[in-house]
Amino acid sequence: MLNIDYGNFSATRWPAVYRLGQPHSTTLRRAREPRGRFGMTADLSGHSGKSIVLVGLMGAGKTSVGRKLAEKIDLAFTDADEEIIEAAGCSIEDIFELYGEKAFRDVEERVIFRLLDEGPQVLATGGGAFMNPKIRSRIEASGISVWLRADLDTLVRRTRRRAGRPLLKTSDPKATLQKLIDERYPVYADADIVIDSMDEGPEITVDIISDALDAMTKPDSGGKER
Ligand code: S3P
Repeated sequence: MLNIDYGNFSATRWPAVYRLGQPHSTTLRRAREPRGRFGMTADLSGHSGKSIVLVGLMGAGKTSVGRKLAEKIDLAFTDADEEIIEAAGCSIEDIFELYGEKAFRDVEERVIFRLLDEGPQVLATGGGAFMNPKIRSRIEASGISVWLRADLDTLVRRTRRRAGRPLLKTSDPKATLQKLIDERYPVYADADIVIDSMDEGPEITVDIISDALDAMTKPDSGGKER
């Protein structure tokens, strides 16, 4: 059995949705007086003490962008999939094969709950994590979610570079990715910030995210209500 620790639920909401008139289709929700864990108004310095949580499909670049973003904004970086592998003591492929996807989703939920309780960090989540409503609520409570949006061809090209993704072990991975886009993009669209994941290199994406985070958490950002 897979046995992982997990923490307690806490509810915090990001009330207003803003769209910035910026390039790269950056969309964000802006925090106004987010409430801290114990019902106090949180400090708006930094990123309100929240974790930055990267979401998006396999191949969107969550890990490479997350690592560099963490360096830039001086937070620890965590890759949820790596934590799952460590907690389970076997690869994600093995978890799927030996225990099934449901067991993987269970472990994923518990690991992400635990990580979010560990304090502010940049957290790269696996592509299916944000589809879990409980994980979404928890991210909403203690994090700022950033969707790295990428088109089908980009995802196909990037996912070809690395094996070990059980959901793509199909006869037609491109069709599988298209199906996942159809199912997941409407849900990923709930993220606080939406960034188009580009091929120019993660540094540019990181700069855009960091600007969007500043705009979101600083009062004179010039953000415009959506
Ligand atoms: C999954 C994505 C993977 C991993 C698992 C399931 C998904 O993570 O969590 O294979 O459901 O999309 P990456 O998005 O980091 O590849």
